[in-house]
Amino acid sequence: MPAQPLSSTTSHQARKILVTSALPYANGSIHLGHLLEHIQTDIWTRFQRMQGHTCYSVCADDAHGTPVMLKAQQLGITPEEMVAQTRAEHHQDLLDFHVNYDNYYVTHSDENKVLCEEVYTRLQAAGYISQRTISQLYDPQKNMFLPDRFVKGTCPSCKSEDQNGDSCDVCSATYDPTELINPRSVVSGATPVLRDSEHYFFDLPQFAGMLQDWLKSGAIQIEMANKLQEWFEKGLQQWDISRDAPYFGFEIPGAPGKFFYVWVDAPVGYMASFKNLCDRQGIDFDEYWAKDSSAELYHFIGKDITYFHCLFWPAMLEGAGFRKPTGVNVHGFVTVNGAKMSKSKGTFIKGRTYLNHLNPEYLRYYFASKLSDAVSDIDLNFEDFAQKVNADLVGKVVNIASRCASFINKRFDSRLSNTVLEPALVAEFQAAQTSIADAYEKRQYSKAIREIMALADKANQFIDANAPWVSIKDPSKLQFTHDVCSLGLNLFRLLMIYLKPVVPALAQQAEQFLNDSLTWSSLNETLKDHEVNSFKALLQRVEMDKITAMVEDSKENLAPTKTVDPNSPLLKDPIAPIISFDDFAKVDLRVALIAKAEHVDGAEKLLRLELDLGGECRQVFAGIKSAYQPEDLIGKHTVMVANLAPRKMRFGLSEGMVLAAGPGGKDLFILEPHAGATAGMKVK
Ligand code: MSP
Ligand code: ZN
Repeated sequence: MPAQPLSSTTSHQARKILVTSALPYANGSIHLGHLLEHIQTDIWTRFQRMQGHTCYSVCADDAHGTPVMLKAQQLGITPEEMVAQTRAEHHQDLLDFHVNYDNYYVTHSDENKVLCEEVYTRLQAAGYISQRTISQLYDPQKNMFLPDRFVKGTCPSCKSEDQNGDSCDVCSATYDPTELINPRSVVSGATPVLRDSEHYFFDLPQFAGMLQDWLKSGAIQIEMANKLQEWFEKGLQQWDISRDAPYFGFEIPGAPGKFFYVWVDAPVGYMASFKNLCDRQGIDFDEYWAKDSSAELYHFIGKDITYFHCLFWPAMLEGAGFRKPTGVNVHGFVTVNGAKMSKSKGTFIKGRTYLNHLNPEYLRYYFASKLSDAVSDIDLNFEDFAQKVNADLVGKVVNIASRCASFINKRFDSRLSNTVLEPALVAEFQAAQTSIADAYEKRQYSKAIREIMALADKANQFIDANAPWVSIKDPSKLQFTHDVCSLGLNLFRLLMIYLKPVVPALAQQAEQFLNDSLTWSSLNETLKDHEVNSFKALLQRVEMDKITAMVEDSKENLAPTKTVDPNSPLLKDPIAPIISFDDFAKVDLRVALIAKAEHVDGAEKLLRLELDLGGECRQVFAGIKSAYQPEDLIGKHTVMVANLAPRKMRFGLSEGMVLAAGPGGKDLFILEPHAGATAGMKVK
């Protein structure tokens, strides 16, 4: 924690704050959707620290659950190994976006196990845990119970095939996985069976009153609190907190083979990550988590996980005798160019892919310029992104410094003047600190950015009006020019203090150039007779071709890659126009027994075949004489097109066609189905 003096303008007491971001699952990469949340949290944390408050931020990888377990199995490594790798990768991605948690931990940790057991034991002692046998779908091949999303089948409502275990994509019906028609396990393909098992339940309904009060206390945005009312109207249900082995998680004390459901140990993971930090840095854990704690606790989350954070989690905390969150800050989802992020369009962009092409501070600035305290979705529009970063950060803010710096460096020996040319302008910049701070505090970052950019416009107008590049040529106006450029750099400095939570790396470069540290408490100071360093370009413009390259890099190649073989017959004989699946489905392929085969008088290439379809007999003239002797064919099974319109040929009527493959001549092979095939059988 950087120790910083309190702001001299706001007379406030230093607060003790702990903030968290939702724990990313350890089975996928950090993407731009996740980054919205981490950037939102990081800006808020940096702002609080600049105010002189003690503000810790923690996060972790969410390690447990069936998807992580199965992914590790697929990769042929242990879940522990996979989680360790992913955690390290996630942490590095975040650091490279300048998202600095005090601790980035993992839920598969000793601290978390101990804390989960403690929470559970306390809930049990208070009578909030009960047991009941339930019946669930079980994969008899994999020997495991199947979570809803690992069962697929035909929708019981509209009969669409291949629908998820809990809801139908076609008709939006929701149902129990046991209601699916023809259910199958996504893991093995086996047909699931119903099996009984004893489960552990948390008595959520006991907490309805407390939760209603807590939701009304301003802990959550009104729009979310209203939405959560639906759950109270339906009536809160007992929450199933156990899962059967095999499960990657923590075993429930006193219940061998039963594990905590991942959504139990994940939020406790917030406490555990902080506990690990406390133990390393001598921080008092209880000061932040005890029931009577006066510290503030905020969770930043996306709207999809509100239910867990605003019902189960506060109830668990209350039931176990811990404090509840001061606030749960819910944000909307990131869309790209107006649509859901899509792997095929290349708009499902991983953090690492972004970093390979673009500066992380562009994204931090762009998200800040769009974020408010509302739950609405945030669209990342690439045109708008480039335009905003170029116009605001490069064109307005950095431009102020570049317009003034070279004169200060070259003509005034890198020293700022001793005079403040327009004290009223400086005072206006300084006075904005109250409303800018208020906007940051309330997570209305877009409002803060609008105010900062309005000031940047004023700074540029001041420079335009005084045109130092003109006055510099007039020896009698040397002092004036010096004062103009010095004021320009002072205004730049104030803007960079305001922007520091959003663009910390740019702020650091500005600190280096200004030879000064940019702190909130130094807003009321002006640099006079102060030496600066030589100016270097601070930020490049966003180039559209970098964005295009990033999108290309993100396109998941759903089709196999094509390389052209110079000997390919496709070059001479290209593939015919695409037919629809329906067209193909019209072709009725059948296994046929070659009952008779003979030469045809006068025919160079043809053999006459009699094909037995298991009751129906067809005459077919096939151009396979170069490859087969008739006697070799008799008694074999082959595949024929059984519904081809009959064709009158010179030698008679052909009532179908046999399938053969090969380059021709001697190398031509009729298809021979497996020995188990019988005549008339449909070929799929
Ligand atoms: N592991 C759980 C959280 C447990 S917290 C005790 C989880 N993980 S997640 O990886 O799916 O999501 C992590 C966070 O990223 C969530 O807050 C989620 O809302 C957020 N986002 C995931 N995709 C997102 C977007 N496209 N846009 C904005 N946020 C999104 O849920
Ligand atoms: Zn349906």
